[in-house]
Amino acid sequence: MQLSTKHLLGIRDLQASDIQTILDTATQFKEVLQRPIKKVPTLRDVTIVNLFYENSTRTRISFELAEKRLSADTINFTASGSSVSKGESLLDTVNNILSMKVDMVVMRHSASGAPHFLAKHIPAAIVNAGDGINEHPTQALLDAFSIREKLGSLEGKKIAIIGDIMHSRVALSNIYLLKKMGAEVMVAGPPTLIPVHIREAFDIQVEYNLRKALEWCDVANVLRIQLERQNQVLFSSLREYSLAYGINRKMLDGLPKEIWIMHPGPINRGVELDSDVADSKQSIILQQVENGVAIRMAVLYLLAGKQPISNP
Ligand code: CP
Repeated sequence: MQLSTKHLLGIRDLQASDIQTILDTATQFKEVLQRPIKKVPTLRDVTIVNLFYENSTRTRISFELAEKRLSADTINFTASGSSVSKGESLLDTVNNILSMKVDMVVMRHSASGAPHFLAKHIPAAIVNAGDGINEHPTQALLDAFSIREKLGSLEGKKIAIIGDIMHSRVALSNIYLLKKMGAEVMVAGPPTLIPVHIREAFDIQVEYNLRKALEWCDVANVLRIQLERQNQVLFSSLREYSLAYGINRKMLDGLPKEIWIMHPGPINRGVELDSDVADSKQSIILQQVENGVAIRMAVLYLLAGKQPISNP
């Protein structure tokens, strides 16, 4: 079975069967990544540009590594140091790159909808690597893969997404994905950082008390406070946020059961997570990063029109 879409613009556009196909394909690629030679020749006829208009550590390196593991040819573009600073438009920039015979575009942009705009105007397959406060689909896929690894499945599992829900593309992509795959979803955080109609819009639970959210869930996916996206004061200080919504060791030890802790990174240590939680055996943060490479290999492989694999 192939994906129902030519692009990966968001989880909202995917069917549950697409998500299943990507997760299953990533399982095969994770096996490849355990081999002494972690490389397959499957995309050696494909050229990919990584177009990053916004900063990134994990996502950019993960896509680059995934492309190298698949033997694709890659070009890395960052807006700083390019002709964007001379006023060149997004469409002109991309059309110039595509004229050099590029097949796929991986793009991160601070404007929500930028990859959707590109998809309407250019023939190449587009992968959204995070657009503004809209979606971050490969993050949600790697989060789901990591939950599935720990809990066996997503169906019926209780996932609490905690923190700055309002400004988080990770939260939105996770909510779409988890609901499509039958998980129970709760968002938790201060009322000022949770959109008012989110409960009705997505049929999810909302909790303003951190302890109650942690007592409810199997997995806590903890988000960063995105100070760079806030144009008004939505909580009094980072210290006060940390006192009400920061997760510490004592809090985890007081729960009735062990839960898994996730975070998409970068972590504000001492704000949303204390170090003895982020670095504990209950944390799967670095496993998320590891799984990101397999997920991005699967996405690129499937969007390049390759059949789902049993043994790449
Ligand atoms: N998780 C994530 O998107 O991290 P980066 O911003 O470092 O890519």
